[in-house]
Amino acid sequence: MDIFQAPSPGLPAGSATPDEIARFVVGAAVHAPSVHNTQPWWFSHDEYQISVHADSGRQLRVADPSGREMMISCGAALFTARVALRNLGFVPKVRVLPDPALPSLVARVAWGERVPPVDYEKQLFAEIPRRRTHRGGFDPAPLPAALLADLRAEAAREQVMLSLLAEAEDGQRAAAIAAVVEAGDYALRLDSARAEEEARWAPGPGSHRRDGVPPTAYPAQPERTEPNFPGRDFAHGHGWGFPPRADEPPVRSAGVVGLLTTSVDHSADWVHAGQALQRVLLLASSCNVAAALHSQPLELPLLRDFIRVHLSGRAYPQMVLRFGATSEMAVSVRRPVEDALV
Ligand SMILES: Cc1cc2nc3c(=O)[nH]c(=O)nc-3n(C[C@H](O)[C@H](O)[C@H](O)COP(=O)(O)O)c2cc1C
Repeated sequence: MDIFQAPSPGLPAGSATPDEIARFVVGAAVHAPSVHNTQPWWFSHDEYQISVHADSGRQLRVADPSGREMMISCGAALFTARVALRNLGFVPKVRVLPDPALPSLVARVAWGERVPPVDYEKQLFAEIPRRRTHRGGFDPAPLPAALLADLRAEAAREQVMLSLLAEAEDGQRAAAIAAVVEAGDYALRLDSARAEEEARWAPGPGSHRRDGVPPTAYPAQPERTEPNFPGRDFAHGHGWGFPPRADEPPVRSAGVVGLLTTSVDHSADWVHAGQALQRVLLLASSCNVAAALHSQPLELPLLRDFIRVHLSGRAYPQMVLRFGATSEMAVSVRRPVEDALV
């Protein structure tokens, strides 16, 4: 049973107005991860439902011409909205891409029926502002097998597969994925149109922008991992970023490598992938496990297809992830609710 959609006896309606409910839900949803922190969404609401819209003005035209990463980002915001509604005691009824004539209408989420949230839902809700994308290596301790099984199961509830390469025999596959990430990262750095677009979403220190990836979100000296998963060059040669820890080892663990995949590759699958992504990220965060995201090779059709054919059993890769424990905490930024709620 999927607790986020669970049918059960209703409760007396609360006293919050639709406007208050929408503000609460959008206030949570804007914390979702998004590619380069573009926050490519806006929300509207009426008496009993919230609509999630993709904001094509915030789409990465060079890196993401199909809008795949934009829809994954919106899917992550959609899942966050579902968790916020559950925390209020509403059972969200979701319709993904409900109107073929409006491809930017990502979802409608109706609320009505009430069921008290269970502890697990409250726990995920508490992680929404706490979760952060990690950029670098992890502590060497292995992650519990039970957590890895739970992460897979969470993704499956959103019709998305999460393959985790935790066993020793998966080492070569993890090394192969690292090599493709590295190839993708080099290719992006060599492509001036892509590098310029990335730089536009990476403001420097002291910026008052409430979007993009700030220097407080990545290390000034890229950390080497084994196998090596290079991070994006958000500092683009300026040396920005937070300083290294005093006890920094020269090479850190890459953590448990994961691939989020779907069996079909349409807009709805990207929205599902985004929901699954945020679902596993929140669960991991609730267990003090952070995640690093690598979409560099997935923005290059040849490399994405290489992963699909050789490394993901022909399923469509939607995200490369790494999970692990770390004491570092990146600091990100968000636009205020008023900017996102129409
Ligand atoms: C579709 C998608 C692709 C992403 N790709 C990367 C990536 O390649 N490298 C990276 O460091 N972070 C990546 N991220 C994470 C975003 O940069 C991050 O969510 C955003 O900066 C907001 O920061 P936060 O997650 O810490 O709140 C990606 C996120 C999404 C949703």
